[in-house]
Amino acid sequence: MTGTQMRVLVALDEGTDRDMVEAVLPEEPGIEIVGVVDSLDRGWRELAGGTIDAVLVGCTGTADQALTFTEGVSAQFPDRAVLLLYSGSVNGLAGRAVASGAEDVVALPMYGGEPPGPRERDRISDEVHAALLKAVARRHRASAGPVVTHGRMIVVLGPKGGVGKTLVSTSLAVALANAGENVLLIDLDLQFGDAALTMGLEPHKTIYDLVVSGGSLDAEKLDDYLSVHESGVQVLQAPARPDQAAAVDVAFVRQLFDVLRPSHDWIVVDTSPGFAPEVIAAIDTATDICMVGTVDAPSLKNTKLGLETLELMGVEPERIKLVVNRSDSRVGISPDDVQAVTGRAADALLPSSRDVARSINAAQSILSSHPTSAAARALRGLAKSYLGVKQRRPAASLKRLMRRSA
Ligand SMILES: Nc1ncnc2c1ncn2[C@@H]1O[C@H](COP(=O)(O)OP(=O)(O)O)[C@@H](O)[C@H]1O
Ligand SMILES: [Mg+2]
Repeated sequence: MTGTQMRVLVALDEGTDRDMVEAVLPEEPGIEIVGVVDSLDRGWRELAGGTIDAVLVGCTGTADQALTFTEGVSAQFPDRAVLLLYSGSVNGLAGRAVASGAEDVVALPMYGGEPPGPRERDRISDEVHAALLKAVARRHRASAGPVVTHGRMIVVLGPKGGVGKTLVSTSLAVALANAGENVLLIDLDLQFGDAALTMGLEPHKTIYDLVVSGGSLDAEKLDDYLSVHESGVQVLQAPARPDQAAAVDVAFVRQLFDVLRPSHDWIVVDTSPGFAPEVIAAIDTATDICMVGTVDAPSLKNTKLGLETLELMGVEPERIKLVVNRSDSRVGISPDDVQAVTGRAADALLPSSRDVARSINAAQSILSSHPTSAAARALRGLAKSYLGVKQRRPAASLKRLMRRSA
């Protein structure tokens, strides 16, 4: 994948209801619909010409043409995923679709029938989004190479903006540094990264400056591009402007990880919402994933989808930690519900707190501005869980007491 988005082409077979298909196309972070073309032939030409990660094929009736098209794509462009959007009953189609190399089939309402209402549209659009993520994750897994590991690399993920990824990644980095570890924070939210700002660091050279500097990457050169926080955390800042993000491609990001990993015990990566290509590259290299979600229904649904996507990418559940932010919000969803929906218990619960807002306004880590707050304690607890604290033993005094009473 190139750029910062998953690029998706929509090709419509004869007889497909264009309005219906357009109504259910997902508008989600990380997904860019590059075009909707009215024939499979045009779709084929677009595929041959451009960088496209997945094709949605609108079809109906026998779908013979669509299946032939799918077979062609599987043979000619095996790294592109094909998903069918089928108007009508999918009974009998699913088997043929899989045989032709399609990743999935999403059913649309029957052509000529009642147009779907807004809730139905949203449901189908969510289904298309999930199918796209999973298809691309599966392809990706098939083509990924072996991972070489050095220190630990924690990638902080979250399905939406504003869930607390930057709070968690910056705090985790600071907490690890406070525990005496050598830590680098990479801000991979290439368009809107604000980790440095949040930490109160002055603007400095960014990952964009590193890309445009040209020449080869080595640890010594990289030193010039890192700013240093008072905690000792080194930070590679995100580009200063959104338009600079496109210059940072996936190949560069991979190379960057290769150079940086051997010289740091811990790399913490802050990310943009969703599964942008550079985020997928980070997940590939990571030893650990920290998924941050909030307790509202859309975020939970997306957190679950994110966890499923990670599983399809081959990330084992034991390498993932789940952080539930604003866990005390009175929105009618409890941490137990989180487990029921996502299938796993939260590894850390982060309460909503004014102290967080205050610390961010003061451009200070909450760990230093409000070290005894509940939020700071939860964040230190999270860092400790990475450091692997030893099982607590009864204190010596308690042991003596136990011996005496025996
Ligand atoms: N637990 C919390 N309590 C209070 N404010 C929070 C909490 N978590 C996040 N925020 C605020 O929400 C905003 C978004 O958080 P941020 O970490 O930047 O999210 P993301 O990186 O996922 O977009 C920030 O202004 C932050 O101060
Ligand atoms: Mg952020």
